Amino acid sequence: MPDAGLFQIIHSLKSLKKMVNINNCAVVILGASGDLAKRKLVPALEALYKQKRLCENSIFIGSGRSAFTDEDFRTHFDVDREFAKHIYYHQYTSGLKSFIASKGVFERIVFFFSLPPVAYGPMARELVAEGFGGESSVIIEKPFGYNYESAKKLDNELASCLKESQIYRIDHYLAKEAVQNIMVFRFANTLFNPVWNNSCIESIQISALEKEGIVERGTYFDNAGIIRDMIQNHLLQLLCILTMEPPVSLKADDIKAQKVSVLRTFRIEECYRYQYDGYLQEKDIRAGSKTETFAEMRLSINNFRWTGVPVYIRTGKALHRRGTEIGIQFKKIPNILFNEKGNLTANQIVFKIQPAEGIIMDIHSKIPGSDDQITRTNMNFCYRDSFGSAIPEAYQRLLFDVLRGDHTLFVSSAETEAAWKLVDGVLDKGDITRYAPGVVPESKLGIKWIDFEKYVSLCS
Ligand code: BG6
Repeated sequence: MPDAGLFQIIHSLKSLKKMVNINNCAVVILGASGDLAKRKLVPALEALYKQKRLCENSIFIGSGRSAFTDEDFRTHFDVDREFAKHIYYHQYTSGLKSFIASKGVFERIVFFFSLPPVAYGPMARELVAEGFGGESSVIIEKPFGYNYESAKKLDNELASCLKESQIYRIDHYLAKEAVQNIMVFRFANTLFNPVWNNSCIESIQISALEKEGIVERGTYFDNAGIIRDMIQNHLLQLLCILTMEPPVSLKADDIKAQKVSVLRTFRIEECYRYQYDGYLQEKDIRAGSKTETFAEMRLSINNFRWTGVPVYIRTGKALHRRGTEIGIQFKKIPNILFNEKGNLTANQIVFKIQPAEGIIMDIHSKIPGSDDQITRTNMNFCYRDSFGSAIPEAYQRLLFDVLRGDHTLFVSSAETEAAWKLVDGVLDKGDITRYAPGVVPESKLGIKWIDFEKYVSLCS
């Protein structure tokens, strides 16, 4: 019988074997002189290349309006010399097809649109006109539209020249290890399945706080606001994974089908918008802007499993700390036995999505030496303790998945459209309440949020 360490090694070797089968690929970054290529994409490709997850003959091409030689372009990136030899530059998209052909034969050609969303449709058409077909895929980043109508328009534009299977819409929250683990937690443990419903759960609470304000992104953020920026995509994705029915298989289409089904049963019952003091003085903010930098919502899930279980979501910028947590608040036990006086609190499970990833279960225990004195204690699973601290960077995983044609961690057009349909009614609506930077505004939902603060130091 292999011990746990050996078992882990065998498992890692098996997964590595599954992972090293990517044939020659060409990755083209459109809009390559931007910040994303330098900060995230090229470092992620370099890491994959060094881990030998990409074929030796793969190439990485930057493309844009500026004129660079390959050598000039390579100096933008802090990469080692060996990897730099695989980087090329091509000005504009015209002639790109023959440029790629001059470098070799590539089974997979992937275009990363590091471009403003208005350029997605026209760029997809240009690529098709240039002769790229089914062997190529495109990766796009949010925002996928501004509301339901514009999202639909964008989807139609893309669908007019690409198949859905060629499109990879990134929601980087799906690439977070602690998010992927929610499905494992739910569907690989007998323990939780029977309680994951409205007979045991009182409420679901999702809290995503950020310390930073809007930094240098005033123009984008002032047109978006936190509901478009965080809730429509990242936080609704979390809620889908938490509440969907078990998929019939782990294939991307089966998982997405369950996510869309549950997403269509969500309804926003209450929504409050807030703005931090000083926001109007930030760079590139419109005078008198009513854009929200913090929002709080109550949603209902209208299906047999969840009806009667409210979902609370809050997220915002310029707060006292950065932290994304999900709290599952269980129902109270009846007022009998140890809880005769009704003073025992209810159990909680907290998923620490970031930072200091972990899962905490809050349970009651007897205080040693006492007759029947009970206190709350935690059972903790911390990533750092179980797996060390090396959690892979999200873009590495996402780029790798595109190259091997795995759509699981990407969002389908049906998901984005259903999410827009849900939030459409609350976008830019209602009053704005001010809050002091560094302080989470008092809840208007009439609830007491789970005290996530007491879990902050755990797993760190
Ligand atoms: C992005 C938003 O999608 O997610 C940002 O546009 C936000 O405004 C960021 O700060 C949060 O991501 P993370 O991974 O830091 O939680």
